[in-house]
Amino acid sequence: MKLTQDQLTAFEKDGYLFLPEMFTEQETAVLRRHAAQIYATDREEVWRESSGVARTAFAAHTYDEAHKRLGAHPRLVEPVMDLLGGEVYMHQYKINAKAAFDGEVWQWHQDFGTWHRDDGMPEPKAMNIALFLDEVTPANGPLLFIPGSHVEGTLEAGHDLATTSYPLWTLSKAEVKRLAERGGCVAPVGKPGSVVMFHGNLVHASPPNISPFDRTIVYLSLNRVDNHITDFKRAEWIAHRDFTPISPLSDDCLTDLVADEAKAA
Ligand code: SIN
Ligand code: MN
Repeated sequence: MKLTQDQLTAFEKDGYLFLPEMFTEQETAVLRRHAAQIYATDREEVWRESSGVARTAFAAHTYDEAHKRLGAHPRLVEPVMDLLGGEVYMHQYKINAKAAFDGEVWQWHQDFGTWHRDDGMPEPKAMNIALFLDEVTPANGPLLFIPGSHVEGTLEAGHDLATTSYPLWTLSKAEVKRLAERGGCVAPVGKPGSVVMFHGNLVHASPPNISPFDRTIVYLSLNRVDNHITDFKRAEWIAHRDFTPISPLSDDCLTDLVADEAKAA
């Protein structure tokens, strides 16, 4: 899939792009079903909130067929290759549950801040592309972005080991206020199947989900192959060491899986 010139210009200015309903209900349904099966396991890759509900399943593209296919889906991988200007590998893959009632906060941060400090990623030549598996609304803990904050480079941050189960390099309230006074604060919302891609230095967060609706989002963190990480402090399934370039699959790879599963049933 190719981005238009207008989309490239918007990404450069705002640091993110929202692409509504890029995947069908059939495609998101199979990914949701597989995510629910993964959350029900006690794999070490599944991290939980303090209540016990799943927070994040890491590396599902390495042990689940539907997520393996999504991890090489041309509608996600090709636009990122275009924006980063080269071949990419999977630095991290996560299915964030943000479960109804119990999904907890993600504090204000830049992804590259963590990738650089924890994994020795040299440059911000990596980015997230995310697929909504549930509808994301203002009520169920949407992502919050500060448009244009990516141009500030990598900002000072503190290592938050306490707020949630997942350590993160987070920004101060004063810094977030300064940036938001200039850029504002937006919450991209939309139907299941919508996609959002954002620059590694875009400042973002998400509030807790007190609503009765789940908010599952899958994130592919794709890094340019020549920008691979150089520190290996985190588990392999959090910060991957396999730098093989991803070869995009065919556009119907998920609908093929649905058909194969129906035949086998
Ligand atoms: C993230 O920033 O990496 C995840 C945020 C979320 O899923 O709400
Ligand atoms: Mn993030």
